[in-house]
Amino acid sequence: MCTTQNVGFVPTMGALHDGHLSLVAQSKKNCTKTVVSIFVNALQFSPDEDFEKYPRNLDEDLRCLSTLKVDAVFIPSAQEMYNDNFSIVINELKLSQKLEGASRPGFFSGITTVVSKLFNLIRPSHAFFGKKDIQQLQIIKKMVCDLNYNINVISCETVRENCGLAMSSRNQYLDNQQKERASIIYKTLRLGKDMVLDYKKYSTIIKEMTKKIEAVKDFKIDYLSIACSETFDEFSDDDDWGRVGFGDVGVAAAVIISCAVYVNKVRLIDNIVINE
Ligand code: PAJ
Repeated sequence: MCTTQNVGFVPTMGALHDGHLSLVAQSKKNCTKTVVSIFVNALQFSPDEDFEKYPRNLDEDLRCLSTLKVDAVFIPSAQEMYNDNFSIVINELKLSQKLEGASRPGFFSGITTVVSKLFNLIRPSHAFFGKKDIQQLQIIKKMVCDLNYNINVISCETVRENCGLAMSSRNQYLDNQQKERASIIYKTLRLGKDMVLDYKKYSTIIKEMTKKIEAVKDFKIDYLSIACSETFDEFSDDDDWGRVGFGDVGVAAAVIISCAVYVNKVRLIDNIVINE
């Protein structure tokens, strides 16, 4: 008899929170085996970023994963992943130039390279990624398609704190007051969504959202974008929201409102999708 084993894979950089755990739960639900990797991937951090102080919490992570009864946890060393002679990277050439990629050169190259290696090592049938990192998700889907990986990439909803703040390992850098204040980010994304659905002008929406976020002490926008979900091309005042998906003559392209916001030196990202 031939039994099919589905192997679900959840790549992470550890410091696990309920967002990560929701991906694990979905894998457990959909697959016969679930593998989680924990690897803080130096290749996706630029020299001025927080690689050294990125939260690492291995004992607690393993405790959570054992409670969830995952089948395997893969925790490679940096040397195992990148030997001294390592000289091949995977580059996506279009989507990776926009938004996060424009702000963080080399970021997506580091991600596609490590995820490609992890896919080759784990050989999953399914891989689970969060919509919290929507651009990463789209780029991984593109990589799977363009490089012929036989893997189903499953998109998972963003898990949020009660106040609306998207869960993130980097939230550990914030104190409670900053976390509470950071709920303005999701509130403002929702406002932006309402304004799009209300056919407000692109520049009016951007202006209104910027004003709301930057009114908060120590908050500074890195980018704020209203873009097409397929291409990440930015909309403009020339665009008619009806044409992009929710008017009478709409075509089915989703709109993504996304942002990166500095809370002092901590950089948070979030997004909301319209017309998914
Ligand atoms: P990391 O930031 O640890 O995230 C691992 C996975 O958890 C990603 O798919 C991410 O989108 C998802 N995730 C994070 N916060 C979430 C939330 N609040 N709700 C739902 N899902 C959430 O993303 C990475 O690591 C790395 O780039 C990686 C893919 C592991 C490559 O190094």
